[in-house]
Formats: sequence, structure tokens, C-alpha cells
Amino acid sequence: MPDMNVYKSLRFLLLAGAVAVRSETFDFVIAGAGTAGLVIANRLSERSDITVAVIEPGDDVRQDPDVQNVNFSFSSFNASINYQYPSVTSPALGSRNLTYRAGKAYGGTSTVNGMVYIRGDKAQYNAWEELGNEGWNWNSVFSYYKKGEKFIAPKSAQIAGGATYDKNVHGESGPLTIGFPSIISNGSFHDKALATWKALGLNPIADLNGGAPNGFVAAPQTLDPDANVREDSARAYYTPVEARPNLKIIKGTVKRITWANGHGGLAVASGFEIVSPSGKLVKIGARKEVVLSASAYRNPLILESSGVGNPQILKKLGIATKVNLPGVGESMQDHPIIAMTYSLKGSISGRIPYATMPTAQDVFGNKTASIAASTSAKLSEWAKAVSASSGGAISPSAIEKRFRIQHDLIFNKNITIAELFPSSTGTGVLAQFWTSMPFSWGSVHLGSKDNINTPTITPNLLSTDFDGEILAAVGRLSQKGYSTPPLSDLITDNTSPGYSKLPLNASDEQWATFLRENVLNGLHVVGTCAMLPKELGGVVDSEVRVHGTSNVRVVDASVIPMELSGHTMAPVYGVAEKAAAIIVASLG
Ligand SMILES: Cc1cc2nc3c(=O)[nH]c(=O)nc-3n(C[C@H](O)[C@H](O)[C@H](O)COP(=O)(O)OP(=O)(O)OC[C@H]3O[C@@H](n4cnc5c(N)ncnc54)[C@H](O)[C@@H]3O)c2cc1C
Ligand SMILES: *[C@@H]1O[C@H](CO)[C@@H](O)[C@H](O)[C@H]1NC(C)=O
Ligand SMILES: *[C@@H]1O[C@H](CO)[C@@H](O)[C@H](O)[C@H]1NC(C)=O
Ligand SMILES: *[C@@H]1O[C@H](CO)[C@@H](O)[C@H](O)[C@H]1NC(C)=O
Ligand SMILES: *[C@@H]1O[C@H](CO)[C@@H](O)[C@H](O)[C@H]1NC(C)=O
Ligand SMILES: *[C@@H]1O[C@H](CO)[C@@H](O)[C@H](O)[C@H]1NC(C)=O
Ligand SMILES: *[C@@H]1O[C@H](CO)[C@@H](O)[C@H](O)[C@H]1NC(C)=O
Ligand SMILES: *[C@@H]1O[C@H](CO)[C@@H](O)[C@H](O)[C@H]1NC(C)=O
Repeated sequence: MPDMNVYKSLRFLLLAGAVAVRSETFDFVIAGAGTAGLVIANRLSERSDITVAVIEPGDDVRQDPDVQNVNFSFSSFNASINYQYPSVTSPALGSRNLTYRAGKAYGGTSTVNGMVYIRGDKAQYNAWEELGNEGWNWNSVFSYYKKGEKFIAPKSAQIAGGATYDKNVHGESGPLTIGFPSIISNGSFHDKALATWKALGLNPIADLNGGAPNGFVAAPQTLDPDANVREDSARAYYTPVEARPNLKIIKGTVKRITWANGHGGLAVASGFEIVSPSGKLVKIGARKEVVLSASAYRNPLILESSGVGNPQILKKLGIATKVNLPGVGESMQDHPIIAMTYSLKGSISGRIPYATMPTAQDVFGNKTASIAASTSAKLSEWAKAVSASSGGAISPSAIEKRFRIQHDLIFNKNITIAELFPSSTGTGVLAQFWTSMPFSWGSVHLGSKDNINTPTITPNLLSTDFDGEILAAVGRLSQKGYSTPPLSDLITDNTSPGYSKLPLNASDEQWATFLRENVLNGLHVVGTCAMLPKELGGVVDSEVRVHGTSNVRVVDASVIPMELSGHTMAPVYGVAEKAAAIIVASLG
């Protein structure tokens, strides 16, 4: 029989080797090494007196050629790095269900996304402060955008392809490389598109990342134009710091928050319970705080598994309520998106990343004032319907307050309300468009107590009638663009859906049917752990701390309280940089 010491070291070897994940304690533990999670991990671990662990179910895919390839396509990604969550069906979508994709890897969705980098309008950020989040406004978030960014100015080939920029709105020494694709289209598409949109009142602008994106302009991307590879948050925020001894990524899936014995009224987290790759439950301790960066689809599931959420929902799941917080998982917002295709006379070289961003005035013309008035009169009715679909989780008056601010942004602050974004298919153009600030909100919840991996997603897209009307109006503007010279000179036909199905003079009924049958989810999901006062249905306060807890923060797309006119990745980076600074400042 071996003596006790030999036995101990054997046992240690077994724990350290065969059982890869063991119980450990760190100062901070972060759920998810995704777009936001690695920003937080990088900034917190700058402090050498702080230990940081990140729990991530996905792998390190920095060397995967499909990830590095800047030619984005959905089909590039193996399901093993690409979650595909199904939604429930809904009548507003003709009983279709939708698929919500997201990245499962170091870098999260930034490893599988389209890389387009667009921040949105100034007034939308200022509205965060108006909603009750002190210190969250355009100027403050803008300074963190610059801190995070390493902008690579376009070179002559890209300038020939239409790339322009305003140096004053970019950072040059941050970790995140941003530039224009080296294979930007150098044919006549840019000049013709510019001339057509200008004729339709959408003037060329120099840069859409300075908070005033109204017009036509080439959009930069998170890529390194010199190396011609994708820049995701793993490459930007993990590669430079992975040797830090105080930073560790642990493979596993966070199942729930573990709680210490509370003092005062606030719940105190002691760490996470995680599911290891072999399926074992392991506790990872947090001396200071836990941070949820597991995405807008997954943070609500972790909170609900931990007893934080709507007591009615928790009771049905058989989970005791620890913190009564009905906003968890509600007010999910996304961009409803349509793609049409056009065939071309010639082929198009390279990528055509040109965004056209119209305001309400650009879309509705001289009908804008009457639509502003008629929709204002309907806000309380819409708020009641959205409240009812949340089972009363958020009151009609709270939703109406949020809707009024959104309506003011659209009709008085003149934000851009839609985006038209083409991509090249070689022989054709994929003409995508979507609207930016929907009044149709859905939800994400835990479906059953033990299934931490499958969110129950209720999209509710186009469930408020105005969202369909505005999308149809933007669709008509898109059709008008492709049928107005000189852009129309390049086009031979509308190949999908085809003018026979949806003619230029299609009626409102034809549009409504077309949208119901074809609209898709833009994959720009926000709002499911909204940063808002609790009375407005909020989940985190303006220091991104979960209401009713002392040391649980949420940082990623889920805290963004309202959809933006932009894509969501840039806002996630800006929010994460600012949130990291808030957390570091709280350390003293
Ligand atoms: C196909 C596609 C294309 C897109 N294109 C663009 C684009 O061109 N431009 C743009 O701006 N936006 C785009 N987006 C959206 C944008 O990429 C996302 O909004 C953004 O990256 C989300 O970042 P996040 O930090 O919130 O979450 P993520 O980056 O998804 O990070 C979440 C991480 O948490 C991990 N995780 C999940 N569950 C758990 C758990 N229980 N425990 C621990 N870890 C967990 C995940 O594996 C993941 O790594 C696109 C999205 C998709 C899906
Ligand atoms: C996806 O990845 C898995 C696991 O790495 C592998 O077995 C499978 O062959 C891959 N599929 C494709 C289509 O690449
Ligand atoms: C979604 O719809 C497809 C096609 O109708 C169907 O095959 C699939 O089972 C549905 N999935 C869910 C989860 O409802
Ligand atoms: C245009 O792009 C193609 C490939 O995308 C390249 O081969 C060609 O040299 C470019 N032409 C000019 C004038 O830059
Ligand atoms: C990306 O697409 C371009 C054509 O647009 C092609 O020349 C290039 O080889 C592709 N790159 C990769 C890595 O597939
Ligand atoms: C709005 O503009 C159209 C033409 O674009 C014109 O026919 C119509 O009379 C105008 N209506 C108002 C109220 O000005
Ligand atoms: C918004 O647009 C309207 C109509 O063009 C104009 O009257 C108003 O001054 C604009 N408001 C702002 C804040 O730009
Ligand atoms: C559209 O135009 C076609 C042919 O000009 C006509 O037959 C049709 O009735 C029009 N449809 C609508 C809705 O105006």
C-alpha cells in the first residue's frame, strides 16, 4: 500500500490531468470568452494584483482558415463553432420559425460575423442617459470607441473603390484593427451607386462612425487589410495578453451563479457552477465579482437558473426566486431584414461594402409629419400589446416611456432609421435592407431547469404593424435605388423575389404578404438584460450591475437597452471598453 504522500500526489495528478477542470478561485470570473468577454478579461487582467478566469465552452479557433478568411459566408462555419438556436413560431411570420446564429469559440460571434463596423447615431447613445443611465452618452462611449480602435487608413486601391474616412473619429493605438477590405470593388459599382443615391437625396458622407451616418458611404470592417485576415476579439484582445499569469480561460459552460450567505438586502455571488467538458459539475469561486458575457441569448438563462428573474417564470421552471427581476430576458430587439438579388450586365470584382442610411424624412418624404403624428397616437396601444406579450413582466407605462423616447429619436432627432447594404455575389448583387428601431419586441427564456444550452426564443418580429409598414417603405426605396440610373445601368433583372412577384408598384397588401413570408432576423439582438432602471424593466444599473445583487455584472449586447442604427458588434466593443473601465475604477 503506498504511503499517504504518494497517494496524495497520485490523486493530484489525476485531478490535474484526466479531470481537466478543477475547482479553483479567482478574483473575477467571466462567463463567455466572446466579443465582450475578452475585452473585459484583457482590461481587468492589466491589473497584476487581480486574477481573472473566463469560462468558455468553445475552442481556440484563431488558426482556423475559415475564421481568418475575410470572405464572409454563413456556410463557411462548421456547426461546432456556430450555435444555431431555433425560435418558436409566430403568426406574424406566417408560422415560420427562425434560426439565431452565434459564435461558439474564443472571440464568440466576432469570429463568425460579417465584420461590418458601424456604431450608430449620436442621439441613440444620448437616449441611454435620458433613460436613466448616468454617464452613458455619445461623448463618453465615443472616447472608448477610440481607445479600443486601431484604424488602418485606406490605401490607393481602396480609395479608388470608394473608401473615405474622417481621421478625427477613429483611434489609432487600441487593440482592435479596423480597415477596409483589401479586395474592395474597383469597378463602376461605387460611382454609379453614389450618383443614384445622391439623386435620391442620400448624399455621400466621409465617415459613418462619427455619430452622423445619414447618407451613402463605404463601411469599414474588423479586419486587417494588410494581412487580409479577420480581426475578432480573440485576435485583438486575447493574443497580446495570453501569457499573463493572472489570466486563464477554462473550458466549460456556466450553469448558474452560486450564492454566498447574503448580508443586507443584496444577493452576493460566490462564483459559478459550471459544466465541464466531461459533463461534471464544478464550482469556480469568485472572491470579488462574476461577469456575464455569454450573449443576449444566454445571459438570461444563467440568471434564471440562478433564481434571478420573473417569479412567475421561475415558479413554472421549479426554481426558487432569489432576486425578483421581471425584466430578465424581455425586450429582445433585432433588425428585421430582407434580402433581394439583382443580376448584372458584367461581374463585380471584390467586396462592395457600401451602406446607405436614410432618415424618416428620406424614407417617408412629405408624409413624415403625418406619420409622426399618427404613430405617436398609437404608442400606448403598442406598449400595451408588447407588455401583454411579456405576460405583464414590464408594465405598459414603462414600455410606453421607452417607445416615446424611440419615437422622438425617429421623428424629432432625425436619426437614421434603416440601412441598405449590398454584397457582391460575383455575378450579382445581394441587396439587403433592414429597419433600425423596431417597436416589436420578443424575449429569451430558459425552457427547462436543466437545459442551459437551448434558449426559448420568441422573436415577435413585425408583431407591431408599423414595423412592417416602415420595412415596406424602405423596401420600396431599395427597389427605387436599383431601378434609378446610373445604378440601374448595371442591373439586368431582379432575380429574387422578381418583379413579377413584387413589382415596383406593389400594393401595401403585396408587401405585407411578402414580408411575412420572407423577413428574417438580422442577428443584431440586444436588450435581454437591458441597462435601465428597474421600474422601466431594466436588469442592470448604469454600472452594469444586476439590480438586487452586489457583485454580478452583465457586459455584452444584452445590456444595450434599445436597438441602434448600426450593426451590434461595434456597440458591443464600445460598451465593453466603458464597462471595463467602470469595473476597474470600482477596485480603487
Ligand atoms: C452570422 C452573423 C453575422 C453578423 N454580422 C455582423 C456584422 O457584420 N457587424 C456587426 O456589427 N455585427 C454582426 N453580427 C452581430 C454581432 O457579431 C454580435 O452582436 C456580437 O458579436 C455579440 O457579442 P457578445 O459579446 O454579446 O456575444 P458573443 O460574441 O456571442 O459571446 C458570447 C460567448 O459566450 C459563450 N457562452 C455561451 N453560453 C455560455 C455559458 N453558458 N457559459 C459560458 N460561456 C457561454 C459563447 O460560446 C460565446 O463565446 C453578426 C452576427 C451573426 C450571428
Ligand atoms: C466539423 O467539425 C467536426 C469536429 O471538429 C468535424 O468532425 C467535422 O468533420 C466538421 N465538419 C465539416 C463539414 O467541416
Ligand atoms: C422550424 O421549421 C422547420 C421548417 O418548417 C421545421 O423543420 C423545424 O422542425 C422547425 N423547428 C422548430 C424548433 O420548430
Ligand atoms: C481590381 O481588382 C482586381 C481583383 O479584385 C485586381 O486584380 C485588379 O488589379 C484591380 N484593378 C485596379 C485598377 O485596382
Ligand atoms: C476571397 O474572394 C476573392 C474574390 O472576391 C478571391 O480572390 C480570394 O481568393 C478569396 N479569398 C479566400 C481566402 O478565399
Ligand atoms: C407630396 O409629394 C408628392 C410628390 O412627391 C405630391 O404629389 C404631393 O402633393 C405632396 N403632398 C403634400 C401634402 O405636400
Ligand atoms: C429634423 O428634420 C426636420 C424635417 O426635415 C427638421 O424640420 C428638423 O429641424 C430636424 N431636426 C433636427 C434635430 O435636426
Ligand atoms: C402595377 O402596374 C401594372 C402594369 O402597369 C398594373 O397592371 C397593376 O394594376 C399595377 N398595380 C398596382 C397595385 O397599382
